[in-house]
Amino acid sequence: MKVTVIGTGYVGLVTGACLANLGHQVICADISVEKIATLASGGLPIWEMGLEGLLEEARNRQRIRFTTHIDFAIEEADVLFIAVGTPSQANGDADLSHLWSVINEIATYKLTNKLLVVKSTVPVGTTDAIDVFLQHLPPDHRPIDVVHNPEFLRQGNAVHDFFHPDRIVIGCASETARNIMHTLYKEISAPFHFCNRCSAELIKYASNVFLAMKISYINIIADLGERLGANIEDVAKGMGLDKRIGASFLQAGIGYGGSCFPKDIKALKTLGLKMECELPLLDSTEAINNNRPRTIINKAKKYLGTLKGKKIGMLGLTFKPMTDDIREAPSLAVSRLCLAEGAAVHAYDPLISTYPVQGVTLHRDMYLAADACDAMFILTEWEEFRHLDWSIISKMLHFPLIIDGRNMFSWEYMRQQAKEYDLIYLSVGRSPICAGEAVTESCPENQRHLFSSR
Ligand code: UGA
Repeated sequence: MKVTVIGTGYVGLVTGACLANLGHQVICADISVEKIATLASGGLPIWEMGLEGLLEEARNRQRIRFTTHIDFAIEEADVLFIAVGTPSQANGDADLSHLWSVINEIATYKLTNKLLVVKSTVPVGTTDAIDVFLQHLPPDHRPIDVVHNPEFLRQGNAVHDFFHPDRIVIGCASETARNIMHTLYKEISAPFHFCNRCSAELIKYASNVFLAMKISYINIIADLGERLGANIEDVAKGMGLDKRIGASFLQAGIGYGGSCFPKDIKALKTLGLKMECELPLLDSTEAINNNRPRTIINKAKKYLGTLKGKKIGMLGLTFKPMTDDIREAPSLAVSRLCLAEGAAVHAYDPLISTYPVQGVTLHRDMYLAADACDAMFILTEWEEFRHLDWSIISKMLHFPLIIDGRNMFSWEYMRQQAKEYDLIYLSVGRSPICAGEAVTESCPENQRHLFSSR
C-alpha cells in the first residue's frame, strides 16, 4: 500500500520506517526542512534502537522517501497517517494546534479513496470532530473514513513494540476502513481490537494512566514497606505472580517521567473536569509521582544533615535508559531541589551533553561525576552503571553515600560491596545498608565515625 506519515517525531518516523519494512511504499512528510534534509541525506534526527538499520534497509529497497511537500505526500497516498505532537498546554489540555493545522491543510486536497488515520494521542472526541469537519467539505475532499489508531510504543523499544504489539487498536466507523487497516497490518501477529473512535482514544489515555498509576502505587507501597522492614522487590514479585495484577510496571523508584505519562494524566484530568466526572485516582497518581524526587533528597539529608555546601554526583539524567530524552525526567526535579538546598551538582549521562538546569556541571565520565562528592545518586538505570567499580567509587567519594533511585543493584550484591568498601547504600523500599551492616532504623549520625578517617 502507499502510505504517507505526516510528522516525523519518534512515533511518525518509527511508524513510517516499520511500515516500509512490512513492504509498503512510505512517504514521511514534515514541515521541518532541517529534519527532512537530515533524513533524506541518510541521517537520523532522533536516537531510537534499531531505527537506523531499518531506515537504511528501507532506503536501499527504495521504499521510503522524505519530503516537506505536503501536496505530493497527499497525492501519492492511499493511507494518510497523522503523527504530529500534542504537547500539554499550561492548563493541562492537549495542544491540538499542530494537528488542526495539518487537517486544514489536508482538507484543501482531494481525499476521495484515501483513508485518514490519526496516530497522535488526542483528547477523546477529536477524531470524531475531524470527521465532522471533513464531512462539511465538497464530496471529493472527504476521505473514505477517519480512523483513530493509537500507538503503544515505548521510547527505546519502539521498533520492537511496533512489530510485537500486544494489540492493534482501530477506532473507525466503516467496514472499508476496518479492511484497509487490517490489510495494512496483516504481517503483524497481534489481536485486532476494533471499536468506535472515542473508545480507541480513551484506550490510549486509560492505558498510559493505568501504567502510571501502577508505578505510583508500587512507590507508596515501597515507602510503607521500607518503614516496616519489607523488601519491595520481593513484594512486587509476589504481587506480580498474580496474573490479574501482572509483573510489569511494578519497579519502585524515583517515579515516572517522559513526554507521555505526565502529559496524558494532565489531559485526562482536564477531560474529567470538562465532563464533570471526578477522577481522584489521577490526582493521587500525579501527587505521589511529583513527590518522588523529594524522597531522595530526604534520604540524603538524613545522612548528610544538610545539603548546603555539599557536592552531589548524579548518574543518569534521562527519564529512562536507552533514550536521550530528558523531558519530565525525575533528574530535573532532583537537581533543582539539590541546587535550591545549596548543593553543587555534578552529573553524567551516556547520552546527554547539554542539560537545561543551570548550575549542573556535566562530566563525560561517570567516575569524574563522583569525584569528591558527598553523595552519589543513581537516577537512571543505564546498563553501563552496572559495571561501576565500587573500589574506585569508594576512594573518589568524599562521603560514601550511594542512593540508588532505581533499585538497579540487588540488595545482596550491594551488601557485599558496602561491606568491602565501607559504603552506605540506600535504595527504594529496601533496608538501608550501612558499611556492610543492614540497619532497619535510621542511625546515620552515629555511623559517621566509621568514615572519619577519610
Ligand atoms: C509510554 C508507554 O509505555 C507506551 O505504551 C506509550 O505508547 C508511550 O508512553 C506513549 O504514550 O507514546 P514511554 O513514555 O516511552 O512509553 O516510557 P515507559 O517505558 O512506559 O516508562 C515511563 C516511565 O516510567 C519511565 O520514567 C520509567 O523509568 C518509569 N517506570 C516504568 C517506573 O518507574 N517503573 C516501572 O515499573 C516502569
